[in-house]
Amino acid sequence: MSVKILAIESSCDETSAAVIQDGIVLSNIILSQSVHEIYGGVVPELASRAHQQHIISIVDRALKESKFDIKAMDAIAFTEGPGLLGALLVGISFSKGLALSMDIPLISVNHMQAHILAHFIDDPKPSFPFLCLTVSGGHTQIVKVTNYLDMEVLGETRDDAVGEAFDKTAKMLGLPYPGGHLIDSYAQEGNPSRFKFPRTEIEGCNYSFSGIKTAVLYFLRDEIKKDDNFIKNNLHDLCASIQYSLIDMLLDKLAFCAEKFGIRNIAIAGGVAANSELRKKISNMELTHNWKTFIPKIEYCTDNAAMIAIAAHFKYMNKDFADLSVTPEARLKM
Ligand code: KG4
Ligand code: ZN
Repeated sequence: MSVKILAIESSCDETSAAVIQDGIVLSNIILSQSVHEIYGGVVPELASRAHQQHIISIVDRALKESKFDIKAMDAIAFTEGPGLLGALLVGISFSKGLALSMDIPLISVNHMQAHILAHFIDDPKPSFPFLCLTVSGGHTQIVKVTNYLDMEVLGETRDDAVGEAFDKTAKMLGLPYPGGHLIDSYAQEGNPSRFKFPRTEIEGCNYSFSGIKTAVLYFLRDEIKKDDNFIKNNLHDLCASIQYSLIDMLLDKLAFCAEKFGIRNIAIAGGVAANSELRKKISNMELTHNWKTFIPKIEYCTDNAAMIAIAAHFKYMNKDFADLSVTPEARLKM
């Protein structure tokens, strides 16, 4: 029997729906909410409203593209957390309503697990065990993945996530939110060794990114005192130097952790895995570190429902269903 699942992602500022059949993604519609741009960050109340406004049309498009009717679905999956409470609530309530009216099972998915399981949408798929550096706007983790749903967080950030460090330094440079991809594109033509920012070393497989953020803030403040146009005149080099420091910190600790745990299958996941410098450097480590690396397609790095769908597929196989009393968990742990 073939299994078809409709999956919904609404944890932050992307409203997304996907349909999966027997582990094959048939559609993945993503709407990135633009209402937050002018505020320099996601406004939770506006995110919930935008999810409410768009969820029906996004689900409709995902079903149409899959060429299946809603009545053909065998389960409804949604993101349970972590994420913004009000945003999650929209996806969960919508999913509960659908599952209840159709009398089919509900599947709750951990957003961070889903980022990692996005590696099982396309080939090549990593073999177990592998380490995954999961880097997003809200999280920075090194995870040991022993099986599809068997994961252990070996280390994580003690303060800011690396995506947050990208976005906040971008804001200091006067770039709109979210600025991570803009730093990436300005950095292409910049000199990464022009400016040096101090790194914070922290024990074990953990990270800290708040220090570099503060260092950039004070550095810019001092330079602007001397030259009003400092940012404008040095934007490319600033972006390249900030990006260099952040990516270097990520990869140094990942290499330490891979060595410590004796694992050579290495993956990256999450929004910051779309960063071109990270993608290039980690694939070079195949040679320098004798790793086998796994880099997902960009569309599966930033938030999307296809990753929720593949995670739901594995949970369906395990008959791991949620009941109607399930509520969103803003700080859901893996
Ligand atoms: O996984 P994601 O879409 O949402 C969360 O779960 O947080 O990640 C979003 C983060 C943002 O901080 C965004 O600036 C960052 O990913 N990002 C990038 C790039 N594309 C997205 N950071 C650096 N370089 C990129 N190319
Ligand atoms: Zn995410």
